[in-house]
This record gives sequence, C-alpha cells and structure tokens, in this order.
Amino acid sequence: MNTTAASCVDDTAPAELLKRGERLLEPDVYRTCLNGQPAVVKDYTRYRGTPLSPVARLLVRREARILQRLSGWKHAPALLGTMVGGLALGMEFIPGQTLSTAHSVGIEVFEQLQHALGRLHAAGITHNDLHGTNVMVSGGVPVLVDFTSAWRTTRWLPVHPVSRQLRRSDMKNLLKMRQRLTGTRPSASEAAQVADPRWVAGVRVAWKRFYRWFKA
Ligand SMILES: Nc1ncnc2c1ncn2[C@@H]1O[C@H](COP(=O)(O)OP(=O)(O)O)[C@@H](O)[C@H]1O
Ligand SMILES: [Mg+2]
Repeated sequence: MNTTAASCVDDTAPAELLKRGERLLEPDVYRTCLNGQPAVVKDYTRYRGTPLSPVARLLVRREARILQRLSGWKHAPALLGTMVGGLALGMEFIPGQTLSTAHSVGIEVFEQLQHALGRLHAAGITHNDLHGTNVMVSGGVPVLVDFTSAWRTTRWLPVHPVSRQLRRSDMKNLLKMRQRLTGTRPSASEAAQVADPRWVAGVRVAWKRFYRWFKA
C-alpha cells in the first residue's frame, strides 16, 4: 500500500485492540501510532520468557520478511519494523473494512483481488490463509493482510506440485469469497483451474479414512 495515510499525533496515546490473541501463538493485534504514523502492531509479547518465544519470533520474522518483499505494493501494508526483541511486528494501518464486514463489495474489487493474487503468485508467494478477515478494502482497493502463513518458494519450486496446490487453494478461497459476496459463480475455466488433481483427492480421502479410524 502507499504510505500516504494521515499522520497521528501522539505515539503514547492508548492503543485500540483490534483482536485479542486467544489461540496458541495468535498475537494480540492493536491499532496504535508509530513515529507519528497510524500503525497496526501484531504483538506476541505474552510469550516472552516462555519456551514458545523462539517460535513467536520466527512468526514475526517470516511475516516481516514477506512484507519487506512486498514493499511499495498497493495490495499489502508497508512494514514499519519489528520491535520488543523481535516479538512484535509493526505495519501501516489500512483504513477501511475487512471483506467479512464490508456492507457491499462490487465485482471490481474481486477483479483487482484476482489480479493481485496473480501478481503475488508470480512473485513466488502464496498467502495460504485467504479469508474475509484477512482482506481489507480501502477506498475500493483490496489489501491483503496477515501473511503469517504465507510461503515463499525458491526459484526452482514454483513448478513443484505442492506449490501449485497452495496457489490453487488461494484461488479456491478467493472464488468462494467472491461467490458469497457477489453471487458470481466460478466460470468453467476458473473451476478447471482450481480442480484438485487426482493425487490431492487421493491424499484427502486417505486422510479422512485415517482420521475416522483414529477417532473411532
Ligand atoms: N494493516 C492493517 N490495517 C488495518 N487493520 C488490520 C491490519 N492488519 C490486521 N488488521 C485487522 O486485525 C485483524 C487481525 O489481524 P491478523 O493479521 O489477521 O491477525 P491474526 O494472525 O491473529 O489473524 C484483521 O482481521 C484486520 O481486521
Ligand atoms: Mg487473520
């Protein structure tokens, strides 16, 4: 995203909690002011001094690295830095609503989102958690947030079946959101694009059988 957001005055003003981290390794997410700029901080400091702190630091580092790679792109927030000994990540605050809470979302937002996803994948990155709460809509522009689960493939891996499956899965999530919010069903070519290959269907069936056996 372009870093042209209005400035905020007071870095010491109380932060506004956007999401409390309740599950394991979920950060507290709050809105605050960093160096006079409206910011969002993903904060894992409750893990400080616990055996999970290296994992929390790794999550921060991975997300920061992806945001750094995407810097200057209008479909991702700008990275503002890591802090508190690597246990918190600061990024640009994106004004707007998430796709989950937006009242009406036009098909043009999804056209942009599809184009953005294509660019992300072309850069070797899959988001891997594409849901309504992880897409902000700001002035009609979709902005992807929450790159915690994102994956960047090395140069020789884009053709790897697992990388292909991750891209397919991102696209499937996008088409599901589009259908839910605009009523547009996938076209024949989109459906073919996201159809699972036989090996994935096989793995899925085997996993379901194993899970049923395990629970029995
Ligand atoms: N850069 C941002 N600007 C505005 N809101 C954000 C930003 N990043 C996250 N949020 C809001 O905070 C929520 C939680 O952040 P997210 O990164 O998705 O955390 P989690 O990994 O816990 O899901 C998002 O669903 C969104 O509503
Ligand atoms: Mg999220």
